Amino acid sequence: MDEGGVMEIDSDDPGPENSLAVIMDSTINEISASENSSASIQSLPADDIEEVFENNRRYANMSYFLPNDESEEVRASILHQIFLKVLSGHLTFHRIGTDIVRILDIGTGTGDWAIAMAESYPNSEIIVTDIWPFQSADVPPNLTYEIDDASGEWGFAEKFDYIHIRGLVGAFKDWSMIYHQAYQACSETGYIEILDIGMVRYTVNKAGTALEEYNEALRDAAAVAGISLDLEHLEEQIIQKEGFRVFRRVSLDIPIGTWNLDPSRASMGKLALVTVLEGLESQCLRLLTTYLGWTIDQVKVLCERLKTEILQAADLKPFMTCQIVVARKMS
Ligand SMILES: C[S@@+](CC[C@H](N)C(=O)[O-])C[C@H]1O[C@@H](n2cnc3c(N)ncnc32)[C@H](O)[C@@H]1O
Repeated sequence: MDEGGVMEIDSDDPGPENSLAVIMDSTINEISASENSSASIQSLPADDIEEVFENNRRYANMSYFLPNDESEEVRASILHQIFLKVLSGHLTFHRIGTDIVRILDIGTGTGDWAIAMAESYPNSEIIVTDIWPFQSADVPPNLTYEIDDASGEWGFAEKFDYIHIRGLVGAFKDWSMIYHQAYQACSETGYIEILDIGMVRYTVNKAGTALEEYNEALRDAAAVAGISLDLEHLEEQIIQKEGFRVFRRVSLDIPIGTWNLDPSRASMGKLALVTVLEGLESQCLRLLTTYLGWTIDQVKVLCERLKTEILQAADLKPFMTCQIVVARKMS
């Protein structure tokens, strides 16, 4: 990572439309759409929702690796703020125009993004899905919630103009299937936007760190679980194989802590530090105990060592990479 954490665009669609400055500075147009979007949150049959308590954490099912309890919700809300900073306050990287009417957000989580989108685009119709209901009581009328496992058949009757897939690294064993379904669910001129943040790394190479141990164990456990926590699902060929054409790609290194002296990076870094310290255990607890047979104490000891290392490791310059890909349907 360069210390400025410079964002790079790698695209085969050059021109002013594709300049980051233009994208970030542009005003997002109000969406004008039909007025027929219905206000509803689906009633959630209790049978459709699993609740698994494991190692003092609550999970939505037996397979997804992250817990969904209160501390995880707080962390997810801070992550939402980090994404907003990455996008200079915008909710999407791709400029949303008046042609975007139906929006799908899979694995919506706390609903922070979906609610903000529904409020910013009151004429759009936003459908969100997750395996767990979000808790917000205050939901805009143009937002509909569905409990749905995105690794199964999507089965939406109507197509979407824009599909948002954020923070779902590790949620699916088969990303080709997700992109295949997204392709089927997209309108002829539809887009998908995929955003994710990778594992913590140090800018300065140093052997024998707690981070090295943590990342290695996490990768090993993820491999046994049949998932990847690296950002392979953002690779162009996987997305394009299903028929999409990637036309915007961005990578941004987010400093963890305040070692990057650029004020906007430092403020991002403070939030990143909170989510990383809070998330170390959430991220690895189920994976290491279930797939590598670690005890909860072994997990806690490694996480404590790593927390201390990160807090004292300004010289190692910890960071994590955020990647964003926008692809359009090629019919
Ligand atoms: C890390 S959170 C990200 C939430 C949200 N997209 C965001 O960026 O704030 C991942 C979410 O994906 C959901 N999830 C995991 N596996 C899923 C699946 N198979 N189908 C639908 N949602 C899933 C989880 O319940 C969780 O709410």
